[in-house]
Amino acid sequence: MTTDERGVSIWGLGRALPERVLTNRELETMVDTSDEWIKTRTGISERRIADEHTATSDLCYEASVQALERAAVPAESVELIIVATVTPDMVFPSTASLLQDRLGAEGAAAFDLQVGCTGFLYALAVAEQFVRSSAYETVLVIAGDLLSRITDWEDRATCVLFGDAAGAAVLRPSGGDDGILASYLGNDGSGAHHLQMPAGGSRHPARMETVKKRMHYLKMNGREVFKFAVKAMGDSAAEAVRRAGLTFDDIDCYIPHQANIRIIDASAKRLGIPRERVYVNIDRYGNTSGATVPVALTEAWEDGIVGPGDNVLAVTFGAGLGWAATVIHLTEELRHL
Ligand code: UT7
Repeated sequence: MTTDERGVSIWGLGRALPERVLTNRELETMVDTSDEWIKTRTGISERRIADEHTATSDLCYEASVQALERAAVPAESVELIIVATVTPDMVFPSTASLLQDRLGAEGAAAFDLQVGCTGFLYALAVAEQFVRSSAYETVLVIAGDLLSRITDWEDRATCVLFGDAAGAAVLRPSGGDDGILASYLGNDGSGAHHLQMPAGGSRHPARMETVKKRMHYLKMNGREVFKFAVKAMGDSAAEAVRRAGLTFDDIDCYIPHQANIRIIDASAKRLGIPRERVYVNIDRYGNTSGATVPVALTEAWEDGIVGPGDNVLAVTFGAGLGWAATVIHLTEELRHL
C-alpha cells in the first residue's frame, strides 16, 4: 500500500435465500439418487430453490437492502454496484443496472462480473481498488445466482449439488489501514470445458437444436473439478495469507467455497486449520455459486462467530477454471447487530 492509499472495510453484510426448501428425499423422487449418497459424497442435506416469479436481481435486491441498512448507508450514496452472477436476469442489460434502478442508487456506475463461483471475491477485489484509490467512497458488491434455472433436473450428477442465493457487502474506507488485507486471483482456462453452459452465447446461440440437445444447462466433469479444487484452494489460500503478512494461526475463521464437504475438509486439513475454525453451511444451502462466501460470512457475523478484530480467510474455486482467496480483517465499522 502506498501512502496515498487507504484501508478498505466491509461496513455491512446481507443475504437472501428463497423460502422453498428442496430436500434430498424429494430429489430421490426426481432422479436415481439417495439421501445417503448425496450426504456422504457432498455433505448436502437440502437447498433453497427460488419460485418461478423470482429472478436473480430480486435476491440481489433483498441482500443489498439488508447490507445497506446494516451499514447505515443510504442507497443514494452508493457510487458503484458490481453484481457477480452467471445467471443474470437477461443477457443484457446487466443485473447491476436493474438493481441500481430498484435501489434508487441514482447515477451509480453498475456492471456485472461473470466468473462463477469465485465471483464474490473477484468483485470484492475490483471494488476494493476503487475505494483504496479514493475513486469512490461507497461500493456495493453482490453475488447472486439462481443456478436452479440452468440446472438439468434430469442429470443426477449435477442437480443434487446446487441451490439459489445472494449475498451483499458494502465497502467503504476503514478508519485505519486495515480491512481487506490481501487477495490472490487466478485462472487456468485450459480447464474451461470442465464446467460450462455451452449454449446461449455467440458460439451456440439459442436455437431449437440447442434446446433439444440440452445445451442450455450447466455441464460439469465433477471429478476433474474436484481435483482442481483441492489443489487450487490450498495454493491460493497460502498465497493470500502470505500476501497479508499472516500465518494460518492468525486466521480466526476460514470460509471455504461451499461446494463439497470433502473438498472443504481436505483443504482445511492441508492448511492446518482446525475444524472449529471452519465455517460450514453446505448442509443447508448446497452450492450457491458466487453467493456461498457472502452468505456464509453474513451468517457467521449474525451468529457472533466473527466480528470486529477477527481475520477471515475466504477461498473459492469454480468455472474458468479459476480461484480466488481473500484475507479480510473485520473492523469496527462492521457494527454488531
Ligand atoms: O462450484 C464448483 C462446482 N463444482 C464442484 O465443486 C464439483 C466438484 N466435484 C464434486 O463435488 C464431486 O466430483 C461430485 C459430488 C460431483 C461427484 O462425486 P464423486 O465422488 O466424484 O463421484 P463420481 O462422479 O466419481 O461418481 C461416482 C458414482 C458414479 O457411478 P459409477 O460409475 O461408479 O457406477 C456416478 O454415476 O456415483 C454415481 N453418481 C450418483 N449416484 C447417486 C453420480 N451422481 C449421483 C447421484 N446419486 N446424485
